[in-house]
Amino acid sequence: MRSKIVAGNWKMNKTAGQTNALLAELSAKLPDTRAEVMVAPVFVNLTQAVGQLGGSKIEVVAQNMHFADNGAYTGEVAADMLLDIGIKTVILGHSERRAYFGEDDALLAKKVQQALAKQMRVIFCFGEELADRKAGNHFNVVESQLKNALFALPADAWKQIVLAYEPVWAIGTGETASPEQAQEMHAFIRQLIAGGYGDALAQNVSILYGGSVKPGNAAEIFSKPDVDGGLIGGASLVADDFIGIIKGIG
Ligand code: PGA
Repeated sequence: MRSKIVAGNWKMNKTAGQTNALLAELSAKLPDTRAEVMVAPVFVNLTQAVGQLGGSKIEVVAQNMHFADNGAYTGEVAADMLLDIGIKTVILGHSERRAYFGEDDALLAKKVQQALAKQMRVIFCFGEELADRKAGNHFNVVESQLKNALFALPADAWKQIVLAYEPVWAIGTGETASPEQAQEMHAFIRQLIAGGYGDALAQNVSILYGGSVKPGNAAEIFSKPDVDGGLIGGASLVADDFIGIIKGIG
């Protein structure tokens, strides 16, 4: 059985004090849920967040990491440094990393390799831009993003992979893919994995949707059979909104 997951990507938001306040409110209000719940604060607040959430159901995850073990990579953070403070999951390939920091499929393949070698779990993000969708090219774009970064992996590695389909045109824009558009793409993605690795493996991969998920649209999106949860940006910064989204998965 694949996991249901609701993960909050805080991006470059929240000071230490604000992190403390939001986590306290989330912990106090967290409903009973079948989903795994995750939050991804900025690097400098991860240690504090892990300490604060110790023993809670909310997992603290990282927004990014480097592919090397250590070394002369100014401004970067390595897997061992995350593991050392209790972080076991990392988001890789977010569209903002791709667009603003030049991360491409080849680089992401190296980051994924490193995370897997370190026994970390990866939330791998991908998705087409508006121009791709308008040109009817969205399936091709998604297929190549996935194949380039993930399809050289051995079957066993997929136990550590969670996918997050995030159409770039829906991120932070208030424009959400319709539940039908999300389901159509998620089913396509699952078929791709089945084609490469077999149906049993494909059925076990969680595929999250991301892009303007809000309390008001979460339940409908999550009700689709191939949507296993969400990666939430803006709405994860407000406790009641994030809680409302978690309630949407049941
Ligand atoms: P959004 O961001 O929910 O603010 O659209 C989603 C994401 O970037 O993961």
